[in-house]
Amino acid sequence: MHVLVYSSRPHDREVLEPALVAAGHQISHTEATLDELNLALAQGCDAICTFVNDELDAARLQRLADMRVRLILQRAAGIDNIDLDAARRSGIAVAHAPAYSPHAVAEHAVALLLSLNRHVHIAWQRVQQGNFLLDGLLGFDLHGKTAGIVGMGRIGQCFARIMLGFGCRVLAFDPGIPEDARMPGVEYDTLDAIWHASDILSLHCPLLPATRHLVDARLLTQSRPHALLINTSRGAVVDTRAILDALGAGRLGGYAADVYESERNVFFHDCSGKELGDALLCDLIRHPNVLVTPHQAFFTREALQGIARAMVDSLAHWAAGTPGTGFVTARP
Ligand code: NAI
Repeated sequence: MHVLVYSSRPHDREVLEPALVAAGHQISHTEATLDELNLALAQGCDAICTFVNDELDAARLQRLADMRVRLILQRAAGIDNIDLDAARRSGIAVAHAPAYSPHAVAEHAVALLLSLNRHVHIAWQRVQQGNFLLDGLLGFDLHGKTAGIVGMGRIGQCFARIMLGFGCRVLAFDPGIPEDARMPGVEYDTLDAIWHASDILSLHCPLLPATRHLVDARLLTQSRPHALLINTSRGAVVDTRAILDALGAGRLGGYAADVYESERNVFFHDCSGKELGDALLCDLIRHPNVLVTPHQAFFTREALQGIARAMVDSLAHWAAGTPGTGFVTARP
C-alpha cells in the first residue's frame, strides 16, 4: 500500500519508514501538519499516517474519502484529533498504536514529577551561571506521600507501580476501572476525594468530551496547596488559565505538563527567536512553578519501534481483511 506520512520528523524516516518498506509498502513523507492545502498530497495514496496534531474533521475526512484514501494510521495512542464518527460515515477505517510503550509515558511523568519537586531544571540553569545557592530549591520526600492517579489504563497502571515503588500511598479515579487495574496497593475513590487527599496528581485519561477541562477552577479548589499536578495526557484535559490562577492564589504547588491545549502550531516546531503568538502559553512557560516539555513523553527508542510495529500490523490486518487490535473503527 502507498502510505503518506504527515507531520513527518527525522525519527519517522529512521524508524517508521524502514519498517513499512520491509513489509512491502511504499511510503512518502511531508513534514507539514495536515491542513486544507496539503490534504491534496494524499491523492493516489491508500492510507495516510497521522500524528497528534494532524486534525481530521468531517470535511477533511470526506475529502480524503473522495480521493479514495481508505485507511488512517494514527501513530499515537490518543485519537482525539480524529472525528471517528465522521470517519465511519466517510467509509475510512482508523487504526492507532494502543500499547506501544506505556512505560515511556509513565516514566516521563515521573521525570517531570521529580524535576518539578526538586527544581532540577532551575538548579541546572543556575549552575550553568555559576550560582550554587540552595535558596528556592526545597522539595519534599515522595516516600510516604499520597499520589492520586486519574485514569488507570495502561499508562496509569505503570505510573501507579512506580509510585508504589517510591513508597507512596496510591489513590485512583477511573469511571471504567479496567479489570487488570485492580492491583494491590491501589485504592479507588471519587475524583474529588483523590484530589483532596493527594500530594501528587497525575493525569492519564484520554481527551474525550467528558474529560475536556476535567481539571477546572472548581476541582482546583479541592487541591492541597503544595500539591504537584503532572499532565502527560492531553492539554485540554486541564483548563490552563484555571491552573495559572490556582498557582497564583496558592491553591496548587506546581504544574508540569508534556502537553498544552493549543499546542498544535507550536509543539514540534523550532520557534526560537520568534513570537509564540499565544499569551496563555507564554504565561504558562514563564511561571516559576511550571515545567513544560514539548510532547516528548512517548519519545523513546522502544516506543518508536513499538509504534512502527503497530502500523505494520494494522496494514497487514487491513490487507488480510482480519480484525487487528489497532483498529478503533470497524473496517467499512
Ligand atoms: P488507556 O485507554 O489504556 O487508558 C485510559 C484510561 O482512562 C481508561 O482506563 C479509561 O477508563 C480512563 N478514563 C476514561 N474517562 C475517564 C475520566 N473521565 N476520568 C478518569 N479516567 C478516565 O490509555 P493509555 O494508553 O493509558 O493512554 C492514556 C492517554 O495518554 C492517551 O489517551 C493519550 O491522550 C495520552 N498519551 C500521551 C502521550 C504523550 O506523549 N504525552 C503518549 C501516549 C498517550
